[in-house]
Amino acid sequence: MADKLSTQPYKGTRDFYPEDMRFRRWMFGHLRQAVESYGYQEYDGPLLEPFDLYASKTSEEIVSQQLYWLVDRGERKMAIRPEMTPTLARMVAGKLQDLPKPIRWYSLPNLWRYERPQRGRLREHWQLNVDVLGGDRLQGDAEILAVAGSIFEAFGGSELVRIKINNRKFLDHVFRQTCGLADEATLAVTRLLDEYFKLGAEAFSAKLGGLGLSPDQIAEVVSYTELGRRGIAGLSESKYASEGGRELVELLAHLDSKTFEFDPCIVRGFQYYTGTVFEAYDVSPENTRALFGGGRYDNLIGLFGKQQLSGVGFGLGDVSLQNFLETHKLVPTLGSGVDVLVTNPGPEKRAKAQQVLRQLRASGFRAATTLDYSGFGKQIQSAVKLGARFVVLLGDEELGRGEVGVKNLASGGQASVREETLVEFLRSDR
Ligand code: HAM
Repeated sequence: MADKLSTQPYKGTRDFYPEDMRFRRWMFGHLRQAVESYGYQEYDGPLLEPFDLYASKTSEEIVSQQLYWLVDRGERKMAIRPEMTPTLARMVAGKLQDLPKPIRWYSLPNLWRYERPQRGRLREHWQLNVDVLGGDRLQGDAEILAVAGSIFEAFGGSELVRIKINNRKFLDHVFRQTCGLADEATLAVTRLLDEYFKLGAEAFSAKLGGLGLSPDQIAEVVSYTELGRRGIAGLSESKYASEGGRELVELLAHLDSKTFEFDPCIVRGFQYYTGTVFEAYDVSPENTRALFGGGRYDNLIGLFGKQQLSGVGFGLGDVSLQNFLETHKLVPTLGSGVDVLVTNPGPEKRAKAQQVLRQLRASGFRAATTLDYSGFGKQIQSAVKLGARFVVLLGDEELGRGEVGVKNLASGGQASVREETLVEFLRSDR
C-alpha cells in the first residue's frame, strides 16, 4: 500500500483551525475597523495575475527569487500575487476617470512569496494594504502614517512601535549630487544601504569599496549614514538641501517624534517608490522583522495608460502583527464559537428542543445541540469542551411546569426559568 498522506500543510503555510481562525477574525476585525474609521473602502482582486505585472516595476528579489509562477492551459505566463500594489494600480488605472479622488482603498489579501520560513516570514501571509491616491502629497503621506499609527492604538500598543522614515528623492540626491555617484553605483549603494545594520560600518565600507567607490565617495556615504544620529534639524541649509530633503523635513514636522523618526538607512526594496518611504519596527528585540512598510509611488498608474496619479500606502503582515501582539500580551481571551448548548432530550421532545434553539438563534445567540441522546451529564461535559457559556436543560419535570433549566458554566450558577423569559434571563446573566 502507498504511504499515508501527510497531514502537514505545505512548508511556510499555515492551517487555520477554528481557534486560529477566531484569532484571525479578531485581528482582522480591528484592522478593518481602524482603517474604515478614516473612510477607506475595501477592495479585492484575483490571486493570479499576469507575470508581466510584476516583471517591470516591483522588486528584483521578489521577481527572480520569490515569485510563484505557472503557465496556464492557454500558455499564459501567470504569477501568484506576491504583493497587492500592482493589482491596486491595475484596478485604479482601469477606472481612473470614474473614481472620485482621493481614492482611499484597503484590502486584506493572502500573498505568496518563496521565502525561507523564519520568525515573521512565511510563504503565505495575509497583508493589510492601505493606500490613498490623489490629493496633496504631504497631506496624503501624513494621513497614511496616521492610519498606520491608529492601528497600533486600536490594539493598545502604539507606544511599542517605532516608525522610521526616509525619502527616495532625498536618497537619490545624496548619492548623485553629494557623493557624485553615477546611476549604476547609486542603485547599488541604495541596495546596500538596506543591509547597513546587518553588515556593520566596517563591512559596509568594504562593500562600498568593492563597488568601485573612491575613498572620498565612501567617506561621503558613511557620513550620510550618520545623519540619523546627527539629526536633520539643519538639513535645509546643509549640503543635503534638496526637494526630497525638504519633503522629508516637512513630513516629520507633521508627525509625533515619540513614534516617528528619520532613518537614513530605510530604502525599501521596491523600484516603484519615488518619494517618502517608511518601515515600522517593534521596540522589543524579540521581533526584528518589519511590522509594516510602504511609501509613495508616482509612476505606477502610468504603466497602464497615459494618465498618472500619485499614491502612497503600506502593507502590514499578519505574521509579524501576531508576533507583536503576543509578545506584548495584547490578545484578550477570545470566546468560543458557541454561546448556548441546548441539551438533546430524546426523540419525543425533539420538536421542543428545536423550538428553543430557533428562539435563541433568532435572538442573536449562537446555539447548538448535541447530535446524540446521551445522558445530560455527558452533554454538559461536551458543552464545557465547546466553551459554551450556558447549557439549557430540557428536563421532564421543568418542562411540565413550563420551565427550562439553565446552567451558567462560567459562574457555576443554576436556575429554573419560565420558557418565555429564557432569552431575557440569558441576556441578563451574560
Ligand atoms: P513589503 O515590505 O514587501 O511591502 O511587505 C509589507 C509587510 O508585509 C512587511 O512589513 C511584513 O509585515 C509583511 N510581509 C512581507 N513579506 C512577508 C512574508 N514572506 N511573510 C510574512 N509577512 C510578510 C509591500 O508588499 C508593498 N506592496 C506595500 C505597499 C502598499 N506599498 C504601498 N502600498
